[in-house]
Order: sequence, then C-alpha cells, then structure tokens
Amino acid sequence: MCGIVGYVGSSEKKEILLDGLKELEYRGYDSAGIAVIEGSNLNSFKAVGKLENLVEKAKSFKADSFGVAIGHTRWATHGKPTELNAHPHLGKKSYVVHNGIIENYQELKKELIAEGVTFLSQTDTEVIVHLFEKYSESSEPFEAFQKAIERLDGAYATLLITQDAPDTIFFAKHGSPMLIGFGEDGIYFASSDTAIIGKASEVYYLEDGEYGYAKGSDVAIFNKEGKVEFTKKPLSSDKVSAQKDGYRFFMEKEIYEQSTVIVDTMMGRVLDSEVVLDEIESGFFDGINAIKICACGTSYHSALAASYLFERMAKIRCDVEIASEFRYKEPLLSSDTLFITISQSGETADTLEALKMAKRAGLKSLTICNVDNSSIVRESDVALLTRAGIEKGVASTKAFATQTMLLWILAIYIAQLRESVSKEQIASEIEAMRHSPTVLKVTDALHSKIHRLSKRYLHGHGFFFIGRDLFYPLALEGALKLKEISYLHAEGYPAGEMKHGPIALADSNLFTVALMPKTLLYDKIKSNVEELSARDATILAISPESFELADDFIQTKYASHPMLEFFEMMVVTQLLALEISIRLGNDVDMPRNLAKSVTVE
Ligand code: G6P
Repeated sequence: MCGIVGYVGSSEKKEILLDGLKELEYRGYDSAGIAVIEGSNLNSFKAVGKLENLVEKAKSFKADSFGVAIGHTRWATHGKPTELNAHPHLGKKSYVVHNGIIENYQELKKELIAEGVTFLSQTDTEVIVHLFEKYSESSEPFEAFQKAIERLDGAYATLLITQDAPDTIFFAKHGSPMLIGFGEDGIYFASSDTAIIGKASEVYYLEDGEYGYAKGSDVAIFNKEGKVEFTKKPLSSDKVSAQKDGYRFFMEKEIYEQSTVIVDTMMGRVLDSEVVLDEIESGFFDGINAIKICACGTSYHSALAASYLFERMAKIRCDVEIASEFRYKEPLLSSDTLFITISQSGETADTLEALKMAKRAGLKSLTICNVDNSSIVRESDVALLTRAGIEKGVASTKAFATQTMLLWILAIYIAQLRESVSKEQIASEIEAMRHSPTVLKVTDALHSKIHRLSKRYLHGHGFFFIGRDLFYPLALEGALKLKEISYLHAEGYPAGEMKHGPIALADSNLFTVALMPKTLLYDKIKSNVEELSARDATILAISPESFELADDFIQTKYASHPMLEFFEMMVVTQLLALEISIRLGNDVDMPRNLAKSVTVE
C-alpha cells in the first residue's frame, strides 16, 4: 500500500512521476503528491483523492532541468486522508515519501517535539524528514540520512531529497518493496517495476536493510556489512499496461478475461495424460508429509479451496492460515511441512513475513503468485506463476480463478507423485481442466440475467452466501466480492452451520445466495436452504437443478465435475457483485478504503 516513485535526471520530471504513480495507483488512492528540486527551486503539489486531482493541480508545472523528484500515492494508515497528511512531507528544506509503517514514530515524534520541531501532519512518515534535518545540522547529508534510518523501527521504503544535496536521492528499504531502475535518461525508483517500464532498461530489486544514494548517474548501495556489490537485471521495454478495451470497469474486463488467462495458466502444465510443473525440481517433495498454506484476502479463499483438493486428491495433510494470524500465534512448524504462500501481488506484508518465519524454521517454500520478481517470488524456493496478466480491479477476480486452477494442477501433480489416485482419475481431472475455459466464458444471456436480477438486491439487511465443501470457500469469496465493491454487508458461511446461530437472522430481508452444485453434497445443501426458506429468507439459488423454493434462480450448465461447477458459480457471484455495485453508483475498480496491494501489516 502506498506507491512511491523517484527520479534523478534531466527529463521532464512531472510526467515521469505522474506516469509512474498512475501505474501504482492500485496501491492506494487516498491522496497523491510530488516534490521536485532543481537547483535552488523547490516545488511540491499534493491533492486528496485520486491521482487525477493531482494531475489537475499540477497542470501548468514543468520541471525539465537537471534535478531530483519524488512522488507518492497514499493508502492512509496514520492520519486521515487529508492534504496535510499527503506525502511528500516537508521539513525545512527536504522532502520525504514513505511506504510502510514506522512503529516507533510516537516515541520519535515526542523526542523531536521536545527539541522544538513542529509537526504538520498526523502521519508516522513525517518523523523521517525531521530526524534527517536534525542530524543534518552536524553531519553531511548521507551520514544524516544513515543516522535517521537507524532510528526507525517497522517497515519502510523511503525516498528523501534535500536542498543540501540537490543532485541526490537518498533511499532505504526495510520490509516494503522498492527497486532502482537504470535508464539512458536517469535513475528511477519505484515500488514496482510497472512504474518504470519503458523508461529504465535495467533494474535492481533492493533487499531489506539496504540503503544508499543516487547522485547524478552514480548509485551507491549499503547494508550493515558495508558497500553492496549489486547486479542489475534487464527490464523488458514492453509496456503491457492494461486498458479497459470497451468494458465499463477493469473488473468487468477481468471477469471476461478469465476464460483466456486460464489457458495461459494451464499452458505447458496440463498435458494429455499428466500434469507437469517444470518449476519444481525432482526430489523437491522428498520428505514432505504435510502442507501449510498462508495467504490473505481472496488468496486465502483459494487456499481454503485448495485444502480440500490436497487432502482429497493428493492425500496429504493440509491446513490453511490467514497470514496475519499465523505470524503471532507462535506456530509449531516441522520441516516435513511444505509452506505454500498464495499472493496476487507478491508483496502482501503479512504473507511475506509469514514466509520468512517459515523459512527461518527450515521449511521448504513454494508460492503461487501473479507477479514475477515480486518480494514473495524472490523469497520462495519455488514459484509457480499464475499468468493472469495485470489485474487492475481492486476486487480480485482473474487472479482468484488462476490461483485456484494452479492449485488444482498442483494437487494433481502431488497426487501423481504420491500415486494417490488412479490413472483414470487423473485422466478425468485433466479432461475437466480442459473444459474450464469454456465454463469461464461469460455469455450475454447470463450477464443480462444477472443485470436484471441485481435490482432486487440493493437493499435489505444483509447477505449470506452459503455453500458446503469446496463451495464454502467460494461462498466466502462471493461475499467478499460483494462487500468490497457494494459496501453491503455480506457473510460467507458453511451452509450446514447456519442452524447454529445465523439462522436467527432469517426473514425476507435476509438475502441468501445458495451455491447448490450437483456434483457435491447436493441433498445436504438443499436441506440447509429449505431450512432458511421455511423461515422466509429470500433465496437466490445458483444450481444446475431447478429449485422450487428459490425466489430467484440462476441455472448453471456444467454439472460434470465439482471444479467446473466451482468456476461457473464463481463467475455468477462475481457478476452479481459487479452489477449490484454499478447500480449503486460505486467506483467498482477503486472501492473506498481499499488498496490492491497491502504492504503494511
Ligand atoms: C488486498 C486486496 C485483495 C487481495 C489481498 C491479498 O486486500 O484488495 O484483493 O486478495 O490484498 O493480496 P495478495 O496480493 O497477497 O493476493
């Protein structure tokens, strides 16, 4: 959360910063700001809300002589989303941007206030610039920066510029992502490489504990051992930036894309009579007797679905944990457990830290991730990329579909290794996988039906999405989609558990979205839905089998395999959330209070 960019060079800086921030806006859009130093000129612009407000505000500003510039797009952690709390934060003659949380900021702030410093914002970040300026009184700028960084606890990726060194950007990374791009026209900094593609030709992904400066074209990196010899990696120049291509929202486009990106996920992995995963070296699973999966948000839901597949197909013990819970529960970890993380962005702070913990405990690690070169990919022993392409909508759709597909492939892969299922069963799983792209296709008929029906579901006192077995995680995901973009209260629940409490809420204003697959526990879920209907709950049934008690009914078509039913119902719940949100007039792609990549804990 929060995106940062920086640039040292002579090209027009405002455009470089705004272009980069546009690519990073998914990380937060509470406010945005830029600061530029060219010689003795110091300029900054900030605006609350989306980046377009900053673009408007800085419309007539130009900065094309040699100098340094930093920019930021914010997801508020400390302090409301106001202009005063927007980055860059100014000291007397220096600016700072920061992504992360400075955990000891209150203590530092107290100390600085006692020394006469006036704080303008409520942010944790502002302490960095004041600490720097305090140390600058008696030290050279780089030494002052080092001293300031040493005082910080918590997570940070930070850039600082100062009039005392107008040709230099100071940087430090600990826990939050940051990279340095090297281009013909200058040196770039960014939270993610999408912000500098097309500008820099080489890149270095900073490691935790690294800091340094870029002065003109000279970059020096240090860690606590001293100067770091770093190797740059080439960066592709193709800007594969996502466009809406005629869809109303990115989320809508991404729902429609699922039938094609799933083919990319399967490519080279799903063969005629077996699945292969070239990324996994032979022997990797030797000694592994259990799997633990850690993830957050939507990725956690795909993990839960996978746990059914791993135990059922691969006959391997599997448990799943929310990364933020796992980190502090003092978990007992044994080295015969494979630690799997799932992450669209590869940058989620809690998931990354959980992975580091597991590695410290000596566990082998594997990640299912959508972003190559992300922190989680770099930290993992094995990375299986989901190949969903850039996902822009904050509410995840195609990432979830491809994660679930890849986890299904992985379950079959392990089943093959452990010989836990017959050749015939593998053949039938593969056949079902090959059908998935068809199942994921959105038809006009389905979309318009959901559009019509969504009208009924704009009010009421809440939604329950219910399902059993694999369809319980899908119910959780359906409810999450709806709350993320419609702001209506929705809960996912195991259908069999409703009678242990939630059924007390049932009345006609309680909307129940019932996932009723034909291939898994149909009769059981049917009874659970009947119990709700008997108590007047309004039922939207999603099933291949018509259901006389349903108030609304969406008939699904592919009742030959649970995973095909899973994918088909997934699309229905995604479209339902989308249509409700559009009717309510919400910004589907940038829902309030959320960010796509959560790099703070
Ligand atoms: C945020 C996003 C969710 C995402 C979650 C985990 O909350 O808004 O869509 O599921 O982070 O992100 P990850 O990138 O690790 O999958």
